[in-house]
Amino acid sequence: MNDVQCEILGASIENSESADRLRIAMLPGDGVGPEVLHEVRKILIAVGERFGLSFDVRTYPCGGKFYLETGKEWPDVAFEDCRDWADAMLLGAVGHPGARLPNGDLAGAGVIFGLRFGLDLYANVRPCKLFEGVKHKIHDNYTNVWSSDKVDFVIIRENTEGAYAPIRGQLRRGGESELAVDNRVITRKGSTRVIDYAYRIAQVRSGAPLDGKKRLTCVDKSNVMAGCQLFRSIFDEVGSRYPEIERDYVYIDAFTQYMVRTPEQYDVAVTTNMLGDIATDLAAVLQGGMGIAASGNIGDRHGMFEGVHGSAPNIAGQDKANPVASVMSCQMMLEWLGNRKSNPNCMKAALAVERGVRQILAQGQYVTGDMGGNSRCSETGDALAEAVRSVSIGDQT
Ligand code: IPM
Ligand code: MG
Repeated sequence: MNDVQCEILGASIENSESADRLRIAMLPGDGVGPEVLHEVRKILIAVGERFGLSFDVRTYPCGGKFYLETGKEWPDVAFEDCRDWADAMLLGAVGHPGARLPNGDLAGAGVIFGLRFGLDLYANVRPCKLFEGVKHKIHDNYTNVWSSDKVDFVIIRENTEGAYAPIRGQLRRGGESELAVDNRVITRKGSTRVIDYAYRIAQVRSGAPLDGKKRLTCVDKSNVMAGCQLFRSIFDEVGSRYPEIERDYVYIDAFTQYMVRTPEQYDVAVTTNMLGDIATDLAAVLQGGMGIAASGNIGDRHGMFEGVHGSAPNIAGQDKANPVASVMSCQMMLEWLGNRKSNPNCMKAALAVERGVRQILAQGQYVTGDMGGNSRCSETGDALAEAVRSVSIGDQT
């Protein structure tokens, strides 16, 4: 257990039912990762005390800086604990200036990929919701005001294969034959499970803001790429089991402009790994920026939750990061755990976090630098935790 920090947050174990004890592996990583997860700790304490949940938290050092110091991206025990011990995982961010693996890859990416591939977290769920009071940087008829209900869709990114599959690439350096080859692997199994997941998400949502229709959009490049042709045909095959969901198709290049021009037409979109990686950074802008965008990496047995943003080394250690993305990722974790364990206290906790975040954003008093303000990460986290403690969750209390 060397290097691993263990603590209990929230309700004391004696006061909580055993069903309300949750084991969380935290992987803060690099840059702003430790800062934003520090604010998430405050949220866990707040919901734990309010709803009688105890969080048994183990925190593992990891990332690019850890790699420079130790020659490893994370301690061996971290993966084993994530697989065998944790109920869920929370990741901060990875990436440290100059920290590269011998093959040129980002040092620390092995933590994210290790969990995604190693635990089969095949659906990367990335909601794009513009909360009331959040200013984004897109203009609409030159007024720069979008009503918050115009942007409410979710992108489901395939997370275990595609262009980021472990066999992905080779780089031969030097000479006239210097070349790089990137392989993209799209399988029937990998496509079927993520597409089916996306249809099930569409079933339980309330439809696109434009017309209230439940719609699943297949985002691909099937006019050029073989893998996308397979992906699209599986999209139709699986879709025949969900006749109530409207099927919609768009090439990735067109999707980037439609997403910005008319986001209200989208409800759920499903796509392959790299296309989803790119599309979700753009989608983040529609909801206020990378400091807001949350994600869940979901498999049949495990879930890992992280902000979509990176380690932002330029503002690291300055108390300037926006904790909302990580706090909303924690919200997704609580909802996922609540469903998975049929735990009503956990569901209430998820609702309180969502309402608390909405309240703070709508008030507009805590605005970090990424959104044009100068609030500190820690004071924003304090305000969020306070709101989570006190916000009404209606007849759920
Ligand atoms: C993301 C990130 C990662 C990815 C990097 C850090 C490996 O960009 O989660 O979107 O490419 O998947
Ligand atoms: Mg990305």
